Amino acid sequence: MAIKYSVPAIIEKLFRTSEASKEELITLLGVLIKEDEAFLLEKAFEKRNEIYGNSVYVRGLIEFSNYCTATCNYCGLRSDNTIERYRLSEDQIITQCKIGYDFGYRTFVLQSGEDPWYTKDRLVAIVAGIKKCCTDAAVTLSIGERTEEEYQAFFDAGADRFLLRQEAYNKKLYDNMHPGMDHENRISCLRTLKKIGYQTGAGFMVGIKNQTLENIAEDLIFMKELQPDMIGIGPFMPSQNTPYEKESPGDAELTLRVLAITRLLVPHALMPMTTALVSLCPEIRERALKAGSNVIMPNLTPDNGGYKYKLYDNKSVTEGLDQEKMAALSKKIKEVGFDLQMVRGDVIK
Ligand code: 5AD
Repeated sequence: MAIKYSVPAIIEKLFRTSEASKEELITLLGVLIKEDEAFLLEKAFEKRNEIYGNSVYVRGLIEFSNYCTATCNYCGLRSDNTIERYRLSEDQIITQCKIGYDFGYRTFVLQSGEDPWYTKDRLVAIVAGIKKCCTDAAVTLSIGERTEEEYQAFFDAGADRFLLRQEAYNKKLYDNMHPGMDHENRISCLRTLKKIGYQTGAGFMVGIKNQTLENIAEDLIFMKELQPDMIGIGPFMPSQNTPYEKESPGDAELTLRVLAITRLLVPHALMPMTTALVSLCPEIRERALKAGSNVIMPNLTPDNGGYKYKLYDNKSVTEGLDQEKMAALSKKIKEVGFDLQMVRGDVIK
């Protein structure tokens, strides 16, 4: 296909209007010329500064259960995978938030596999319990697909935000990655979460088996349409004993370009520095912050859940309750011009 526009012209257009066609996005994703890539990252950096300045928000991540009924081909927690499973009790989760709160955290992300042991009532009690002892903190749930009634109940109990990556907007690719799961329901859950009033997070992996640049462009266009408050984008990482264990990891440089384009398409988005990206390429942190990442999620799980929350191999962990390690992280981030902040960090619109 003939390239109709120069790369800088597309980037300028994105910067001004955040409009782009699928063809233009594919052209941008394919950018290999270093000069043009530098221009893209520069523009993303400007946009990020315009909205969030040099802030990087900190969220305390609690991985409270690695039980999962889902069958995602790429994920180490998939139900068929024989791994040691663990669950935190309601009290343990609330206590851990309180410890985090006393440390200074003002946002907690409660993440688990799709684990029905946590019934609607249990989760309502957990959310309400956290809100009671950490009144001005935001609670984010990342627990997968539930019914609208459940989502509403968690929201009414005080949950502020919900993360649910679409994983792939293209149905064929989604079905390929998720045998027996329902693409339509996934997308419909995201729309329901937005309707209820959650600050809603979506996202996808870069470099998953069978994904084309066109598929990534489709996810980007979906992000532009959905305008989520949070967007998680990280490279695919192979995980032992899963159907995708022998696949190559996603490309860090491509992930960086995807982040930068996303910053231009959804300027207000809160975008975490994903553990997957840091695990794949620790030295990319600074460039990812510049390309538009503005959230870091250190781990508050007691004993790191015995390192059993293994979505993929070689997952790096930032220990969030270690004063020295957190001070070192803050210093490192300051050195590259950013400011780590322990605040609620709501979306700026
Ligand atoms: N590599 C990278 N990211 C993964 N996730 C799950 N498994 C992997 C993997 N093998 C991502 C999914 C999920 C999020 C919690 O982690 O996109 O939504």
